[in-house]
Amino acid sequence: MIGTSEAVAGGEHVARELARDVQLAGGPKKADPRADGSVGVTMFDLPGSSDLGVTVLLGREQLQAAPSQSLLRIKSTDGKNYLGVVSAGPFAEPDGLRADSDILKAVATHRGDYLPPYHGRVQVTILGEELKDGSLTPPRLRPLPNSPVFVLNDTEAAAVLKCGGDVRLGLAVGHAGVEVGAPSTSKSVFPRHTAVLGTTGGGKSNTVAGLVARARAAGMAVVLLDVEGEYTHLHEPTDHAPALSGLSDRGLSPQGVPAGAMSVYHLTGRDTTNARHPNRKEFSLQFARLSPYAAMEILGLSEAQQERFLKAYDITKELMRDLDIFPQKGNADQQRMALENDEFERGYPRMLLSLLMDVVGACLARAEKGPKEAKGRGKGTDDDDKDDAPPAFEYRTAALRTPEGKGKLATRVSAANPPGNAISWRAVIGRLARLNRAKVFHDEGGTPPMTYLNLVRPGALSVIDLSDSGHSELNNIVISDILRGIQDEQERAYAAYESAKAREGATAEPPRVLIVIEEAHEFLSEERVSKTPVLFEQVAKIAKRGRKRWLGLCFVTQLPSHLPKQVLGLCNSFVIHKLKDPQVVTMLKRMVGDVDEGLWDRVPNLAAGQAVVSFPHFARPLLVSVDPSAAKLKMSD
Ligand SMILES: Nc1ncnc2c1ncn2[C@@H]1O[C@H](COP(=O)(O)OP(=O)(O)O)[C@@H](O)[C@H]1O
Ligand SMILES: [Mg+2]
Repeated sequence: MIGTSEAVAGGEHVARELARDVQLAGGPKKADPRADGSVGVTMFDLPGSSDLGVTVLLGREQLQAAPSQSLLRIKSTDGKNYLGVVSAGPFAEPDGLRADSDILKAVATHRGDYLPPYHGRVQVTILGEELKDGSLTPPRLRPLPNSPVFVLNDTEAAAVLKCGGDVRLGLAVGHAGVEVGAPSTSKSVFPRHTAVLGTTGGGKSNTVAGLVARARAAGMAVVLLDVEGEYTHLHEPTDHAPALSGLSDRGLSPQGVPAGAMSVYHLTGRDTTNARHPNRKEFSLQFARLSPYAAMEILGLSEAQQERFLKAYDITKELMRDLDIFPQKGNADQQRMALENDEFERGYPRMLLSLLMDVVGACLARAEKGPKEAKGRGKGTDDDDKDDAPPAFEYRTAALRTPEGKGKLATRVSAANPPGNAISWRAVIGRLARLNRAKVFHDEGGTPPMTYLNLVRPGALSVIDLSDSGHSELNNIVISDILRGIQDEQERAYAAYESAKAREGATAEPPRVLIVIEEAHEFLSEERVSKTPVLFEQVAKIAKRGRKRWLGLCFVTQLPSHLPKQVLGLCNSFVIHKLKDPQVVTMLKRMVGDVDEGLWDRVPNLAAGQAVVSFPHFARPLLVSVDPSAAKLKMSD
């Protein structure tokens, strides 16, 4: 048996021998300087490894250094650099034991205080090989095992993600110092249309509030079709407690849109959710702007009713010439407009709903005469004209209350020889009367129609409050009217711009317009579009034209599956808040390219205000924590 002192002496001897061997071998192994500052190393591949996936192992102290969605640089030992993003993890795994080994389970469940040594693991999706000039290229090889891995700092990450822009949206998850936004002047972002999607409570309205405020501040003309009246207080700073603390965490402060730059519009005779807004404006609709074909769709007329509607429409046009309303005698411009008007696009200039109703009324009166009408058909004698004398009711149109006006109407109706059938005529007048009862169409001496030019002023935010419009029929008319009006103004602005440029060289650019349509599924539901193709065709046209005319549409909906595929197909930017329906997610996967599975997996569980965001200027889609709105939203709870 060896004594204690002998054992100590033996131990010292071994240590001395070891130190000598180490010296002989060239001293302790120096850490690879290439690995300085690394958080982990790449692992060997497994049979199930995929081309763009790499597993990275992290030391215990680095376990949380590479959070989800953070960007990594892998310096492969063959000298190539790769950039990747953490698509799963970080996970913690025990060294040398399976996490679910019996012994670890037993220790844990018996509250033993044994914690084995452990390490971290993250799954990384490779974005590309980083070339010397910093550009990314699809990789031909993969990082070698045991290559050091580094986390990009925020400046580097921002440069790689290319996700900035003056219309700030929020911060990148994984790189909380990286701002995410969209450039307000780029033709390839807003004018290529945006969709903001997510279930109720996902954070869409908050996102929209931030978006419109920032876009306006960036000098865009922003029009917000506010179906619920949620945005009528945006000129006030927010007082919502969670928003206040969220803003201060981000170094932002509560702030309303400058009151002078914001207007709240509502239909004449309808309420607004903020009657005290300093720039509240009532407006009426112009029947003259509504294509008769769109009108028939909206009114849901049968074939027989459509025939009569169009007949009355034509009579009304002729009567307007007779009454010198439009085109007026000697006005060449108006003569040309009357000839060139495309009724699939818009209604007849200056036509009032009340006048059309008077004409339909006269046609109905004629049809009601039944046999007499049949007898007189086609002859067009003076006698017939007397038979067609207007009924006892008072005409809505002042000009028709004079004997002269009555005569002109009678002559036109008689000459046109409209089809009979009082029932159909009564149905047409019934539908028109229903529209008229809404009392929103511009009439002689009533509330003036919208001045569209005001909607396209740079830096203006126009909230169109539709919360009290009652039926969606009316909303559709308003929305299509406003889209049309803005498009016309924009065409005009471009024409003026082109000619000014030709004359004087450089001149101020036409406005950049953003139109946000809340609850877009109500206006453009798949079901509705099949019934109202003319209306949809208008939207599609505006969308296509929008790219040339700097007119961006932004569709907001909690029911993306109710939107026709073509509508989402128009969009190139997506802000996807929480969405639970797996079918909807599957549909979006096909529509929104480039979003990796790891991101899609998170969509059903996103917190309010988080969103998967894909914009054309981004290097890749991102998970974004959207800024709380600095301006006040009317909470709809
Ligand atoms: N970016 C955000 N940050 C923090 N909280 C948010 C954010 N967005 C939304 N929320 C919270 O979620 C709630 C619902 O948001 P909202 O924008 O009204 O959703 P949606 O319009 O999709 O129904 C808000 O009242 C707010 O408290
Ligand atoms: Mg909402």
